[in-house]
Amino acid sequence: STSISMPPDVAFLTGQFSGGNVIKKVTRCGDLSGVFHDLTAWQAIPADTPVYEVEMLDSPQGEGELYVGMTHLHPGLVGDEFYMTRGHFHQRREQGEVYFGIRGSGLLLLQNEQGEARLEQVSPGSVHIIPGNTAHRLINTGTEILSALAVWPTVAGHDYRSLAGGFALRVTGHEGKIQAKDVQNG
Ligand code: 6PG
Ligand code: NI
Repeated sequence: STSISMPPDVAFLTGQFSGGNVIKKVTRCGDLSGVFHDLTAWQAIPADTPVYEVEMLDSPQGEGELYVGMTHLHPGLVGDEFYMTRGHFHQRREQGEVYFGIRGSGLLLLQNEQGEARLEQVSPGSVHIIPGNTAHRLINTGTEILSALAVWPTVAGHDYRSLAGGFALRVTGHEGKIQAKDVQNG
């Protein structure tokens, strides 16, 4: 007879995984050197302040295999700039990714290799197709944790260096108003 196994599960309200083998990585303010434009404001925040956590299900590795991961991005500002992930191109540039908004509200910043940037609204249930050759960063513009589920190829890898000079758009908050600004030499 065929046996039915219980797969891992994700709680759609909180983005918490259970039942699988979960690997967790915390990124703290001190890890995000060069990410926020206001250096003084960044230095004033204790380096051990968590900014985001990524939980990933253990996956088989190799061409054709997929990771499933959840990013939990805390709400907050560094100066006038919202908390965000470092952002990256995939090391294998052609590899795409899919993000799903789970909780909270924010933006997905996408930027192609020509340096053209655009923003998609992230909210519970939103579906984001990140094409190949496209850098991506989450930005929490809300007051609660922004959680987004991601599925991407295990061979994709991360290239953080190509964007060390920054993305072409910055998202700031002024008295509750969200503003996106083009960055010169971004
Ligand atoms: C990936 C995903 C995603 C991402 C996190 C943290 O390719 O692994 O896009 O899991 O890594 O949201 O963002 P950073 O990797 O840019 O810190
Ligand atoms: Ni990615």
